[in-house]
Amino acid sequence: MKRLGMRGRLWVAVALVLVLLGGVAWYRLLREEPLPYTSDVDYFKYGSVGVEANSGLPFAVWRVLPEVFGDLIDRKGGYAAFGFVREPGQPQPIGLPVETVGFPRVGLNCGLCHVGSVREQPTAPRRIVLGAPNSTLDLQRYFRFLFAAASDERFRPDVLIPAIEVGQPLSFLDRLQLRFLVIPQFRSGLLDQKRQLWWMDTAPDWGPGRVDPFNPAKVQLVHLPPDGTIGAARMLPLWNWNARSNFGLHRDGLNTSLTEIFLNSGIGNGASNRSINRVALGRLQKWVSELKPPAYPFAIDEALAARGEATWRQHCADCHAFGGAKTGQPIPIDEVGTDRHRFDSWTTQARDGFNGLDDYDWRYTHFRKTAGYVAQALDGLWARAPYLHNGSVPNLADLLQSPDKRPATFVAGYDVYDQQRVGFVSDGADARAQGRLFDTRLPGNGNGGHLYGTGLPEPDKRALLEYLKTL
Ligand code: HEC
Ligand code: HEC
Repeated sequence: MKRLGMRGRLWVAVALVLVLLGGVAWYRLLREEPLPYTSDVDYFKYGSVGVEANSGLPFAVWRVLPEVFGDLIDRKGGYAAFGFVREPGQPQPIGLPVETVGFPRVGLNCGLCHVGSVREQPTAPRRIVLGAPNSTLDLQRYFRFLFAAASDERFRPDVLIPAIEVGQPLSFLDRLQLRFLVIPQFRSGLLDQKRQLWWMDTAPDWGPGRVDPFNPAKVQLVHLPPDGTIGAARMLPLWNWNARSNFGLHRDGLNTSLTEIFLNSGIGNGASNRSINRVALGRLQKWVSELKPPAYPFAIDEALAARGEATWRQHCADCHAFGGAKTGQPIPIDEVGTDRHRFDSWTTQARDGFNGLDDYDWRYTHFRKTAGYVAQALDGLWARAPYLHNGSVPNLADLLQSPDKRPATFVAGYDVYDQQRVGFVSDGADARAQGRLFDTRLPGNGNGGHLYGTGLPEPDKRALLEYLKTL
């Protein structure tokens, strides 16, 4: 064998150093340590669907933002001010998984918006309602906090690294990585998002329990220009999908394939074609298909409810019971008569754009434009308040009133239950301190339409209301 000359040895040394550096870089930036959740329930609440590797936020920095930028949040409690649902003893709120990809990153998952909470009174413990639409989460306010922090001159290594080091000493390499890579990238990523989502500020706030589900994706994934439409909508429940075959999905039934909506939700939440965890999504899809809706957790007057069932059969079941002729299908917008902004926010351009996406290992073929809002099957109805696609009616008693008697403003985002009116408590000092005022006079927030049942005699309404608790 020929011995290496001086030059050859130098090259070997350089190559070794490069391999070593590459290994360190891989370890510190890309190494993936999947979350170990074994039960489906824990996976739904805390597991990763593949968002973190693509758009996760560096946990170490994220954790200290509420301390450093406390003045940018208008309430006490740090991240709790944004209404995340939390379980005692858990390090993270439901829906914000922390997964290590090089370093721990905070992403989000389906449980963030599809797990709710309810309390019997303000002093009672919170019960977690799996699959229920989250009614407290104010996601837009959370985004705006992150954007405001990134725009602030304090968002720099000199301020953030000392805050991170309190109680958690960092190594020299950690500090180097934070200073030159993590913090600058985190900041510029947030500022990019802020720039792409500028048009959000031209529409009324989403408020608690609502997000605009498709306008961000129309702009960021399909690259359509912002079109000025208002799409804010209540989250929907994720349960009992075996009973929902052939139902229109989403508020306006814009798709009919649960698999496509699962993929699209994963991408919409920040996963990429490479990072999306399709195995996890398949597992969760199976799990929500079998998940039963939650039973009403308080007392029910069974005799009264039994009388109400007759009214339900006569006036509602055709559109809302499993097996009803129109259940799960879109009802023409002029017939249902509710606020049309969310309906109009899904355009034929959006439909064509999504069906035309070729960035992924799959193609969408089921996006469509329908004629109105879907008449949902109403299982677990008690846990879906506030009601209608835009959350404009706080409780079922109010929904059975003609629109002029429904409250023009109320508090949304509180999770103490109102057993009389069937929905969350929507007035009073404690509700105001924890929720946010919802104004039905703003565009997209209208509480008109859906007159079904509003003309019933009072005793029939009482009985129907009791029956609705049993769904
Ligand atoms: C940021 C909040 C948010 C997150 C996170 C989220 N969703 Fe949703 N989801 C919504 C909203 C809001 C709707 C209803 C919006 C509409 O149609 O106007 C919805 C609707 C759905 C629907 C349609 C339900 C029906 O009855 O038609 C499915 C299915 C769904 N989501 C699946 C998922 C999956 C799977 C994930 C995780 C990959 C996920 N969602 C994550 C907010 C969220
Ligand atoms: C012709 C079909 C039709 C009939 C009949 C009908 N509804 Fe509806 N319902 C709808 C549609 C469509 C929506 C969605 C409207 C929206 O979200 O803007 C809806 C929404 C609702 C909601 C809100 C669900 C949610 O996710 O917030 C409730 C509650 C409801 N209906 C109860 C009833 C009751 C009770 C009756 C009988 C008195 C009834 N509906 C009769 C079509 C119907």
